[in-house]
Amino acid sequence: MPATILILNGPNLNLLGRREPTVYGHETLDEIAAACRARGEALGYAIDFRQSNHEGELIEWIQTAHTDVRGIIINAAGYTHTSVALADALRAVGRPVIEVHLSNVFARESFRHTSYISPIAAGVIAGLGGQGYGLALEAMSRLLNASPDPGAQSTTP
Ligand code: DQA
Repeated sequence: MPATILILNGPNLNLLGRREPTVYGHETLDEIAAACRARGEALGYAIDFRQSNHEGELIEWIQTAHTDVRGIIINAAGYTHTSVALADALRAVGRPVIEVHLSNVFARESFRHTSYISPIAAGVIAGLGGQGYGLALEAMSRLLNASPDPGAQSTTP
């Protein structure tokens, strides 16, 4: 079974495509998920792509990340700017994290300039729409290749 990259999406991202398209674009979350699965497969990873409108559910998914989850890409949406608990869960599981936003949060209201996730993220991609997820996958794959799974069995004698 290939190693997995978990891609988590927070509240209201299920509405992509019809939610403020001038801000978030016309691509649906299903379309982004399909593109991520294809890109993940090409990079040699299984993609576990999820969305929830509930903070606790996102936290439980992070806490129960299987040992085969090597990295986490997260667009926490509104929880980015409010959730200490989500950031704590990410910190607790100790997997590399890349933060993604469709919109350029730094060009928007000042409350969107604060992220509880950025301090623990290896990197942040914002403002590039759905393609930000693909770029995050490329970056995660390089990150994981640079620091192989410490739990992996060496095949060399
Ligand atoms: C978002 C930006 C957040 O500020 C907002 O609350 C979202 C989406 C983005 O992808 O641009 O819901 O994370």
